[in-house]
Amino acid sequence: MKKQIQAVKVLGTGSYLPQKVVTNDELSQTLDTSDEWIYSHTGIRSRHFAAPSESSSVVGAKAARLALESAGVKPGDIDLVLCATSTPDYGNFPSTASLIQAALGCQKAAAFDLAAACSGFVYALEVARSFIACRDEAKVLVIGAEVLTRSVDWTERNVSILFGDGAGAVVLGTCTEEDAPASRSILGSDGTGYEFIYREGGLKREPPTSKVWPVPYMQMQGRAVFNFAVRKLDEVISKLCADEGIAPASLRRIYAHQANARILEAVARRMKIPYEMFYTNLETTGNTSSASVAIILDEAVRKGELKDGDQIALAGFGAGLTWAGILMRWPYL
Ligand code: ACO
Repeated sequence: MKKQIQAVKVLGTGSYLPQKVVTNDELSQTLDTSDEWIYSHTGIRSRHFAAPSESSSVVGAKAARLALESAGVKPGDIDLVLCATSTPDYGNFPSTASLIQAALGCQKAAAFDLAAACSGFVYALEVARSFIACRDEAKVLVIGAEVLTRSVDWTERNVSILFGDGAGAVVLGTCTEEDAPASRSILGSDGTGYEFIYREGGLKREPPTSKVWPVPYMQMQGRAVFNFAVRKLDEVISKLCADEGIAPASLRRIYAHQANARILEAVARRMKIPYEMFYTNLETTGNTSSASVAIILDEAVRKGELKDGDQIALAGFGAGLTWAGILMRWPYL
């Protein structure tokens, strides 16, 4: 007989930040910048740098192991490894998810990457939820993993100072609790804004004659991205709450992509909610793109601030342009 699945649930979380920390003061020794400028414009004081041996699959596997441990799930029980990343180990293939699957020994799992930049982890959660909902029972490892410090030009101050490395992961599974609440989600994209943030290295153009590709750096129109982010975060969170019939101020917490504290402050002002409703760790991590929401969720769990039944919103925005939001009662998706 087909088992009645009531809901999808977060079974465990994990995160990993590389050991090396680089402060704004250290950056200002080689860049024409200062701790004062960076902190006042972004809220960032330091970020983590991956060691030379740490790629996205390596930091992703470290976070994933901790998530499996906290979920009490064995690698062999995972049905899908889904990795959101903007900095894959290889240009296009194999996927970083396949490398993580091998590193962990998730023998029966399918694996693929999801590219939605800084919206990636929230996108991946919704894709994983849908995957599970179509099956009798399944367990999915969802990872956000980045080594963004390798994707920016460290001789240029406008973009580089924002980014850091790290990974976060969750294990999703099913539950049969009768009263498990359903989540709501919004996923969106506006490809007409693709030039606001991009990094070349694909095959849009004829390849250069050199056998080794130059490492292309991220390009960003900071002000345009800032304005888009403020408008979209407000839109996404407000719509999720309106559809649920609740006021945004009644949410327990908002776990939004950590791009810039000034973006979150502007959203709070626009939505007329206290800034403190946003969980932040930007000061010590910088922008870790598709890893950021996964990392802050794990931090919140480990601090004991996320309690069963808490109504929370997750939100991401980034290159594409893309955006994503989920309204959920922790830990039900
Ligand atoms: N140190 C000192 N001065 C600087 C620095 C720096 N690190 N960077 C820029 N400046 C200077 C500029 O040269 C400019 O000087 P000028 O007036 O003499 O020309 C001045 O500061 C102002 O520059 P702006 O670019 O207008 O600064 P702004 O206030 O917009 O802040 C920032 C720039 C922090 C990048 C901001 O626009 C921002 O955060 N944008 C959003 C970026 C983002 O969130 N991206 C996330 C998505 S990433 C993804 O999806 C992969």
